[in-house]
Amino acid sequence: MDFTLTPEQELFRKSAREFALKELEPIATDLDREHRVALDVLRELGSLGYLGMTVPEEYGGIGADMLSYVLVMEELSRSCASTSTAVSVQNSLCNTLLVEFASEAQKRKYLPDLAVGKRFGAFALTEPESGSDAAGLKTTAVAKGDSFILNGTKRFITSASFSDIFLVFALTDPSAGNRGVSCFLVERDTPGFTVGKEEDKLGIRGSSTCELFFESCRVPRENLIGELHRGFKVAMVTLDSGRIGIAAQALGIAQAALDEAVKYSKERKAFGKLLGEFQAIQFKLADMKAKVEAARLLTYKSAWKKDHKLDYIADSSIAKLYAAEIASEVADEAVQIHGGYGYIRDYKVERLYRDARITRIYEGTSEIQKLVIARELLKD
Ligand code: CAA
Repeated sequence: MDFTLTPEQELFRKSAREFALKELEPIATDLDREHRVALDVLRELGSLGYLGMTVPEEYGGIGADMLSYVLVMEELSRSCASTSTAVSVQNSLCNTLLVEFASEAQKRKYLPDLAVGKRFGAFALTEPESGSDAAGLKTTAVAKGDSFILNGTKRFITSASFSDIFLVFALTDPSAGNRGVSCFLVERDTPGFTVGKEEDKLGIRGSSTCELFFESCRVPRENLIGELHRGFKVAMVTLDSGRIGIAAQALGIAQAALDEAVKYSKERKAFGKLLGEFQAIQFKLADMKAKVEAARLLTYKSAWKKDHKLDYIADSSIAKLYAAEIASEVADEAVQIHGGYGYIRDYKVERLYRDARITRIYEGTSEIQKLVIARELLKD
């Protein structure tokens, strides 16, 4: 593995950083306070190609590699994890799923608009009674003529309030467990489909999270994605890759917390000295830096393995587990270094501390990542 970035990857990092500083940094606090999604900024990100990062050019994307996508996610997340959440869902969970599993006709119909942010997508797996136990879902899809009739409820669906397209997992053979799940593309205006209320969250408050309701919702058979009854595998493979994006998001949050802690340590005085002159603070900063660098290497390595078509299932879970855990730890220490100022909304570390928390939960909790890693270790 080469530890240097290509000129193209460097350019992605630099452009994403510049965009984040100009467009996201000034509004991130307001988005958080007002619980508002920056749809205009997301559309702009789309027009610049950031919503179709790994989509092949023939389907309207920019055909970049996974590592470039990771660099973009990291840089956007340093400024606004709420906005990067929508970027991640669009790239990792919608586009990647369609690129890997949709038919040629489905790709041509949906990817060009998704890749440039003309339309937005959501990934609907979780239900009120099934989160980590993804195969415990209860939503059903019953074949009727040339359609499927969907009934059920999805919960905690990211980007739901503004999405046009929903990739929905439902039971097509309830007696077959995870081998009876299928994936459907449901358009927002389909009769029998409604989006519920917005959740009031601890962090990433500038992202959208809603319930979805399906009541005798008729979806054409041509909207089945992948093979009938093989949708669970579609979800698992999509999440393997998606977790690399969340690792990058956690890394970006952790880097931002470290940046804030370093800056404050050079400004704030106590007992007649700058904070950074105290060994107690220096040791904290050194530990934070070591954790951020380790998370960065794990995250880049998992993206590199995907780019080189190597098995990356355990790597993406290791990267996501570690980056998510250290994002919380680093943000916590950044708050500690800020003292009382770290506990009030005027300081960025307060938001970073709250935003970091979700990375240990979505796209598989830290406990699920350990389960995936252990299974990969123990398999024959
Ligand atoms: N990669 C590829 N395939 C996998 C896999 C993986 N990581 N894990 C399981 N599979 C495959 C198995 O090989 C098996 O395939 P076959 O049918 O061909 O044999 C099939 O899936 C079933 O596997 P298991 O029997 O092992 O499945 P399980 O029911 O024991 O569950 C689990 C496995 C890992 C716990 C899974 O349920 C899981 O990943 N849970 C977490 C779900 C999750 O991450 N949810 C996040 C929701 S989405 C989200 O958060 C998005 C957002 O809002 C931003």
